[in-house]
Amino acid sequence: MDIDLTGKSALVTGGGSGIGAACVRELAACGAKVAIADLSAAAARAVADEVGGDATAITADVSNPGDVSRMVTETLDAFGSLDIAVNNAGVGMPTKASIGATEIAEWRRVLSINLDGAFYCMRAQLPVMRQGGAIVNLASVMSSVAAEGASGYVASKHALVGLTKTAALDYAVAGIRVNAVGAGFVDTPLLDGRDPRWLAAIAAAHPLGRLADASEIASAVVFLASPAASFITGAYIPVDGGYLAR
Ligand SMILES: NC(=O)c1ccc[n+]([C@@H]2O[C@H](COP(=O)([O-])OP(=O)(O)OC[C@H]3O[C@@H](n4cnc5c(N)ncnc54)[C@H](O)[C@@H]3O)[C@@H](O)[C@H]2O)c1
Repeated sequence: MDIDLTGKSALVTGGGSGIGAACVRELAACGAKVAIADLSAAAARAVADEVGGDATAITADVSNPGDVSRMVTETLDAFGSLDIAVNNAGVGMPTKASIGATEIAEWRRVLSINLDGAFYCMRAQLPVMRQGGAIVNLASVMSSVAAEGASGYVASKHALVGLTKTAALDYAVAGIRVNAVGAGFVDTPLLDGRDPRWLAAIAAAHPLGRLADASEIASAVVFLASPAASFITGAYIPVDGGYLAR
């Protein structure tokens, strides 16, 4: 399917790496003007330079409501409108810990980025979007099932689906769609440093027998953000190589 996003403006958080960068590339390839927001100014700038054209880089921490508000203002200043938002910035829990052994600071770190961040983003984005606008949030298979020792991540991704559905209901009348993609495990820097035996076992847990490439998640994100998905809202769509089918 050819998706034409010419004239649309998009904002991708965490656009400097992995799935976010793949979404930026795909949105730009479909003709959208893309603002790349990331905690890392250098990463956002590198992806903007790679994509070229109208792409613009913004430094922002999604767990800071002031940064998020500025990020949306800078996008509007650059493009004049906000048609598509991909709320992708997120962090994992690099060290497994049972709930009793989880540091409160670690719980708060993960929730403040993965859940509070998505709330701050949608709170700033939805009121400035027009009829036809679309938001896609980056959820996970961990929005449906759990993994031992990752309470903050699992809780944040489960809650993100509830937040997505609520946003979809709140803004349906305004003609703005809000959906979530439930990514299986994806070969990105988020998984850097993991034990190779763990990675092999995780790959095997996907019936397709491998991790996803970030571009395979971006395809679904861009479809949901496009007019081709005009009757899809409030949905959580796994893109997981069959992980949840077992
Ligand atoms: N990689 C996976 O296996 C996987 C699976 C399911 C879901 N996801 C989700 O996809 C999203 C992207 O993950 P990824 O694998 O591409 O990760 P990644 O680590 O490759 O990229 C994440 C990007 O987000 C940025 N970021 C981190 N904290 C931020 C903050 N507070 N404010 C702004 N930017 C911030 C980082 O600088 C980085 O550029 C995350 O929400 C993650 O939970 C990833």
